[in-house]
Amino acid sequence: MADTVKVLGICGSLRQASYNRMALKVAQESLPPGMTLEVFDKLAEIPLYNEDVKAKGLPPAVAELRDKIKAADALLFVTPEYNYSVPGVLKNAIDWVSRTPDQPFDGKPVAMMGATMGMWGTTRAQHHLRQTCVFLNMIPLNKPEVMIPQAQNKFDAQGRLTDEATRKFIADLMTALAAWTKKLKG
Ligand SMILES: Cc1cc2nc3c(=O)[nH]c(=O)nc-3n(C[C@H](O)[C@H](O)[C@H](O)COP(=O)(O)O)c2cc1C
Repeated sequence: MADTVKVLGICGSLRQASYNRMALKVAQESLPPGMTLEVFDKLAEIPLYNEDVKAKGLPPAVAELRDKIKAADALLFVTPEYNYSVPGVLKNAIDWVSRTPDQPFDGKPVAMMGATMGMWGTTRAQHHLRQTCVFLNMIPLNKPEVMIPQAQNKFDAQGRLTDEATRKFIADLMTALAAWTKKLKG
């Protein structure tokens, strides 16, 4: 690993006005020195996982995501919670990439956070995502946990974060991810 920690950020919501997309942008603005954060924004181009489709060749968005994950030192998932779990679009993308040769999640340092409009801030989705990390041997950071409840009260109409406590939680997560990545990768 070079001195710079290169992070790939993936948002689990497709909608443009997504609070999770806004939180990912805040993460980009809150990086410690020596860290970069590129956003992969093509989940909508990934078809539903189908072995028959895969037999004809990897869809371009899947191949691109696989290559970007491989090249990244660490991953940041920023995801809503759908019905107590990980949104299908994010799970679908993970499923695709997990079935590529030398699946690139293996050993990858991971951080996660999420925003909801309700009270629990993606607690249950994050627990499910952690289970997926176990099977694919990603190595998620345990703390700090960043859950952003009632996101509609924390971002303004322009998508700017107005809650300073949340800004600090996000900055602390990115700092912890830098240290975690360096510890794991030497
Ligand atoms: C299909 C669906 C399921 C949802 N399930 C949950 C849920 O289990 N827990 C929760 O707190 N919010 C749930 N919500 C509300 C989301 O937290 C809310 O729509 C949030 O703004 C989505 O994130 P986004 O703004 O990044 O798109 C659900 C929303 C949708 C569309």
